[in-house]
Amino acid sequence: MKKVLVLGASGLVGRSVCEALSSDYEIYGTYCNNKIKPSNTMMVKLDIANEDQILNILQTTEPDVVISSLRGDFIYQLQAHTNIANYLKNHGGRLIYLSTANVFDAVTNKAHSEHDEPDAVSDYGKFKIKCEKVLRDILGPLLTIVRLPMIFGIESKRVQEIEDGLKRGAPLIVYRDFYLNIHSDVLLAKQLAYLVDNDFEGILHLGSHDVVGYDEAMALLTKQLGHKGNKLQYERIQDQPYYLALKSERNPFPVHLMFSAEQVIESIEA
Ligand SMILES: NC(=O)c1ccc[n+]([C@@H]2O[C@H](COP(=O)([O-])OP(=O)(O)OC[C@H]3O[C@@H](n4cnc5c(N)ncnc54)[C@H](OP(=O)(O)O)[C@@H]3O)[C@@H](O)[C@H]2O)c1
Repeated sequence: MKKVLVLGASGLVGRSVCEALSSDYEIYGTYCNNKIKPSNTMMVKLDIANEDQILNILQTTEPDVVISSLRGDFIYQLQAHTNIANYLKNHGGRLIYLSTANVFDAVTNKAHSEHDEPDAVSDYGKFKIKCEKVLRDILGPLLTIVRLPMIFGIESKRVQEIEDGLKRGAPLIVYRDFYLNIHSDVLLAKQLAYLVDNDFEGILHLGSHDVVGYDEAMALLTKQLGHKGNKLQYERIQDQPYYLALKSERNPFPVHLMFSAEQVIESIEA
């Protein structure tokens, strides 16, 4: 049975990935502060500030595949990922690294494909570009970089804050001229499970195959959460249309693992 180590298994994506993989793999997961235990997952504590911990975990678990859904201090993350990559290069094993649409947040007038050169203004986007490059240099074909748009999930802070506001009758903030593709933790987990089963090298853009307006996404989400009639508060990110959207020119998934924005929102269930 393949062994999979999910780094950040107590987080939004990590937890869903462990659940999606739990019946077919030997799963190990890490947490830092929240001792959450997904099904059939052996959880271990990891603080990336402690450099030895990650190497101990790798040596003990000997994973075939590592999925990194970590957050945390950028300097520690970069060091931890460098150590993980060197370990996998020397001992065998693949890495699936979760990156972000923010690697393109310096050029926001269009959706970006895997063939576009990243260019970021945000510290987050710049950090992810740096981490992607370090990992590519060390791991080459043993690496899959999965870039992700905004992720929604019933337990995500994003959805919980929107739902709290809706329950209080607070106006829902809607950004005009903001275009994005979207994903959910549960549908992403299904795609990641497919990538664990099927080796895929290089960069892959995930998320709904269609790009939607933020206002449209919020209308679908409000309906999905069972609310209606809330006041809308319109805002703009900038004067021009703003895109934080990924398109894919290398989609490896079978049809049942390709999702529209509507399906993404429908997957968010209480
Ligand atoms: N969510 C999105 O919309 C989105 C969009 C694009 C890309 N991504 C990327 O997807 C990945 C997963 O995101 P997410 O939303 O699932 O994140 P999340 O819910 O915030 O989970 C982050 C995970 O990292 C762990 N962590 C935080 N600080 C740590 C530290 N110092 N040492 C070790 N572990 C630490 C957390 O552990 P504890 O909770 O136990 O402390 C948690 O398991 C990230 O790499 C993110 O950049 C997310």
